[in-house]
Amino acid sequence: MSAPRTTVTTQVGIVGGGPAGLMLSHLLAKAGIDNIVVEKRDHETIRTTHRAGILEHGSVKLLNDSGVNGRVLSEGHRHDGIDLRFGGRSHRIDFQDLVGESVWLYPQNEVFVDLAAARERDSGDVRYSVRDTEVLDVTTATPKIRFTEADGTEVEIRCRILVGADGSQSICRRAIPADVRSDHFIEYPFAWFGILTEAPPSAPELIYARSEHGFALISQRSETVQRMYFQCDPAEDASAWTEERIWDELQRRVEGPDGLELKRGRIFEQMVLPFRSYVCEPLRHGNLFLAGDAGHTVPPTGAKGLNLALADVGLLFHALDSFFSAGSSTLLDAYSETALRRVWKAQNFSYWMTSMLHTRSDATPFERKRSLGELAAVTGSRYGQQYLAEGYTGWPDN
Ligand code: PHB
Repeated sequence: MSAPRTTVTTQVGIVGGGPAGLMLSHLLAKAGIDNIVVEKRDHETIRTTHRAGILEHGSVKLLNDSGVNGRVLSEGHRHDGIDLRFGGRSHRIDFQDLVGESVWLYPQNEVFVDLAAARERDSGDVRYSVRDTEVLDVTTATPKIRFTEADGTEVEIRCRILVGADGSQSICRRAIPADVRSDHFIEYPFAWFGILTEAPPSAPELIYARSEHGFALISQRSETVQRMYFQCDPAEDASAWTEERIWDELQRRVEGPDGLELKRGRIFEQMVLPFRSYVCEPLRHGNLFLAGDAGHTVPPTGAKGLNLALADVGLLFHALDSFFSAGSSTLLDAYSETALRRVWKAQNFSYWMTSMLHTRSDATPFERKRSLGELAAVTGSRYGQQYLAEGYTGWPDN
């Protein structure tokens, strides 16, 4: 006989306690909608997982207006533009002038820390370190999540709506049968080599550089810690690189007549980041809804991943609120189609930024020159700059 299973009932069961799952849980709780979050990782693992660091103004507004806490504004850094660098020269894209918006440099792990603290402060039910999670009966009026708690207790959550916010390896996505699900997927012939370094900033704003040696991104974390990336082979062994070799590689990708010199420091983290584009259609099956990376993945160029996840969550929250408070299914029925409009715009933006700024090792001289022509067209015209600025800071609607 199997061990007795504890059964709990809630309105919304959320699989995944990263920023998307926690944000949704926070918004629902504030609206009086009961929910439980289950997460397979422990708090510390999520806190120390480094992801991108740029928040669109809409993401900042969501965090701030929902009363998570004010850290994104007090600790984050507002950026009013970026530099696109090619041919060794920088071309500033002035977001404020072009579209009247900004982005905030505020790392994803800080967003997680803030949301986790807000759920704890408000006595939210978030269960970390669970294992053997399964989702069942998603097309019925009582979908279920089964899992084993860290202490071995077997639990079944019975809910009205189930949300899969469980990342790119989503188990919830697999509950959508293959014959109703389309998986749109592309791989790229490169990855990013990412570092964290103890050094002062090398430039006031982010630099996205295309060079004949490949792409580099000079980003930041604080006055004393910087984040940088360069395009590499997906099979690259990060640990095989010495600090000097990394710095030399980054430097040669930003080299130019203006003498831009990266400020070097001790590198305390170096890793190769995967790179792919993926969309699952639809984002709903019965009473199961997917949000964030569970439904779509973008390459990191343009930093759209977390922003898209938060946009999904904002939409899903309004749909759930209307369902539970007013008994209306209209917004829930529209969720997948509405969310996917923004997802595909962001897919296009990330793909476009990636292809414009990276160099394929097999690129012909024609391709290389064509990309430079594209960059010149974008940076040389206010219309081109505006197109980029609007996508980067975040479209006002889906
Ligand atoms: C980062 O700071 O980690 C970052 C910034 C911009 C990107 C990607 C990553 O496009």
